[in-house]
Amino acid sequence: MPDAEADSVEDIAIGDLLALASRMYDEALNGDMISPLPQLRALREAQGPVIWGTGHDFGDLHIPPVFQRIGGARTALVTDFDDVTRVLREEDTFLQDGYADMGGDTLIHLNGAAHQRLRRLLIPTLGPRAVRDWEAQFVPDVLAGLLEPLARMERSNLLDALCNPYPVRVFRRIMDLPEADTDKVHALGVLQIAASASPEARRYAVHLADYVRLHFRARRALPIEELRERRDLISLLAMCGEGDDRLAEGEAVATLQLMVTGGVDTTANLLANALWYLLDDHRWYERVRDDRALVPRVVEETLRLQPSGGNFELRIATRDTAIQDVPIPRGTPVFTCEATANRDPKYWQDVDTFDPSRPPRQHLAFGQGPHTCIGMHLARMEVRVALNAVLDRFPSLRLDPAQPRPEIRGFMFQHPTALPVLLR
Ligand code: HEM
Repeated sequence: MPDAEADSVEDIAIGDLLALASRMYDEALNGDMISPLPQLRALREAQGPVIWGTGHDFGDLHIPPVFQRIGGARTALVTDFDDVTRVLREEDTFLQDGYADMGGDTLIHLNGAAHQRLRRLLIPTLGPRAVRDWEAQFVPDVLAGLLEPLARMERSNLLDALCNPYPVRVFRRIMDLPEADTDKVHALGVLQIAASASPEARRYAVHLADYVRLHFRARRALPIEELRERRDLISLLAMCGEGDDRLAEGEAVATLQLMVTGGVDTTANLLANALWYLLDDHRWYERVRDDRALVPRVVEETLRLQPSGGNFELRIATRDTAIQDVPIPRGTPVFTCEATANRDPKYWQDVDTFDPSRPPRQHLAFGQGPHTCIGMHLARMEVRVALNAVLDRFPSLRLDPAQPRPEIRGFMFQHPTALPVLLR
């Protein structure tokens, strides 16, 4: 049940709810920042591989308070690729602990055996087979619904016309929710992300749990034969597990919230960033249009430069340890920075240049180790299919010279401010 402080979302027009969600997301997580990179690089230069701070504050750099329970502790921040990889991989030494409560245990709240059990249950629900089915069943339809209206237009803003509505429409189909609820689910998901740093957003976001619980209960009430025929995500969760080891309702509800929160705007940011890179230097748009083998590499290069799932993660040191000979006492909260790790000159040349033709190399945008993103097949598929559809339909697409040149901005989640384009 929503708490007594919860604000009703039913009284707000859906357009206003989306605008409210977007404002709270940007205020809570992105501020006015263009990019935290210059400050991070200056701190790395001055302090070496381990940057020390207090709570979320590192000198002038204030990481939005998305991670809980670290208060005013002395905190460390690591920026190099090898250090970030190690912290994310070594669960025994660096424990996942700091995400805001979602009313139940989810993958991001658990470690060790409990985490492995839940991952084993959930991985097939978002695995390559499910993603292939969804791609064949409805992703082209969703894209056609968004791109066909543009065929009659000269210009558009692809952020509003495509990037923002697309992943939530796919998700709505994946979960087989009523079409009329698409924008509500989107707004609640965005509010839930902002909720970790904004009490105001939390008052609305609590309704997401009620919403997904309602639908989960309806699926669980269906006969098993019917559930087996349905291939939607909520039905897959309702069947998840065997014998005594089934997914509990609380686990399923929290997991659905996590997926809506982690799987919608991240993918929208990735698509918007990829289009921005292709259009900002139009030679890339033309080259990729004529050589589609480059599309998956555009996706990876965009993830490297803009890790659309957030620039930072948090772990807690479970024992005294050291990073590059710098002692890290037990109990220290350790931030990892994927944004700098993915631009580590040890592994990439011309680190700030967008170059999808560079030799492929593993980046850290989907994390690493036990908590690696389980939605990565879905995200990659969605963006690959969308980019191909745009390249097919709009071979002459370019940024609208009559509009201000858009820029990628943000702190936790970077994305373009707009994508004004000429469509032909
Ligand atoms: C561009 C898109 C995406 C990016 C960049 C991204 C990034 C990430 C990252 C960095 C993590 C690791 C967090 C950590 O180590 O603390 C993660 C975990 C996770 N992601 Fe994604 N994600 C994306 C899309 C998705 C989608 C589409 C879904 C689901 C539908 C999803 C669901 C999850 C879940 C459930 C976890 C937790 C895994 C665990 O803790 O075991 N993500 N994601």
